[in-house]
Amino acid sequence: MERGFAEGSIKEEKVFGDAVFPKTLLPWSTSMSSARDLAETVQRERPSLSRTLQSHGAILFRGFQVRSADEFDRVVRAFGWEDIPYVGAAERVSVTDRVYTANEVPLDVFINFHHEMAFARQSPSKIFFFCSEPSPEGGETSILPSQVVAEKMEERLPEVTAKLSEVGLTFRFLIHKDKEAEKRQRLKLNYSRVDYKSDGSTEFVFGPSSPIREVGGKKVWFLPFLGYNLTEVRKSFGDGSAVPASAAAAYEEILEENCVDVKWQKGDILLLDNHAVQHARRPGKSPRRVLVAVSK
Ligand SMILES: [Fe+2]
Repeated sequence: MERGFAEGSIKEEKVFGDAVFPKTLLPWSTSMSSARDLAETVQRERPSLSRTLQSHGAILFRGFQVRSADEFDRVVRAFGWEDIPYVGAAERVSVTDRVYTANEVPLDVFINFHHEMAFARQSPSKIFFFCSEPSPEGGETSILPSQVVAEKMEERLPEVTAKLSEVGLTFRFLIHKDKEAEKRQRLKLNYSRVDYKSDGSTEFVFGPSSPIREVGGKKVWFLPFLGYNLTEVRKSFGDGSAVPASAAAAYEEILEENCVDVKWQKGDILLLDNHAVQHARRPGKSPRRVLVAVSK
């Protein structure tokens, strides 16, 4: 029982081990549902919320009257976690001190599963999403625990995962010459090599690095394993050999079988343990507006 909140549930939730995913928390009473009430309860219950996040990986705060980026910012601050500047290839617009637009990629594009800032030197340990406007259809944020991905990949493809643990994975991102802003952003990430090509394009090389990492005693699948929607990327094993197409197909199946598509309601705040849970964006429609904040 989470103190200060009423327990809720959503139709799409799943159970992993004995933990419901995500854990849904509602206002204790209808007279306690303002953004200010939420921020005060969060501040008071920080230790128990941290434990809940650790055991469930994801918490959905639903039914609170959070209506603006400033109110979302206030709730984020109530957790007391340190800010971490956004470093990554996604185009983002700053809305308040702590809050950004989630992604400027057109709404009809599916943004594949990933951990936030997985290619940065330091990735945030938490990510918050706030639904300012839901999509009239689609537009769900899909989430799943990366521990489940690592376990199922080891079950299904033991040779591939053993090889990945041994030699790692190398990513090569090819960025065309007109994408200057993206190039500047990528230079801040943790690439092992940057090659400037004669045609003006730039290749950023990441790795070799094992996509399976140990976080808090659990094995998680941390690096993305599927293609990108708007960026050309080639993946190979760290020794240069090709990753079998069947591995990506099995990975995709595991994601789709185990993910939870959170159907947004206006005012929802979703908090994820970014080192344990991946997220994706389903194609949606205007005026969907989801804002984001991250913490160290
Ligand atoms: Fe993201």
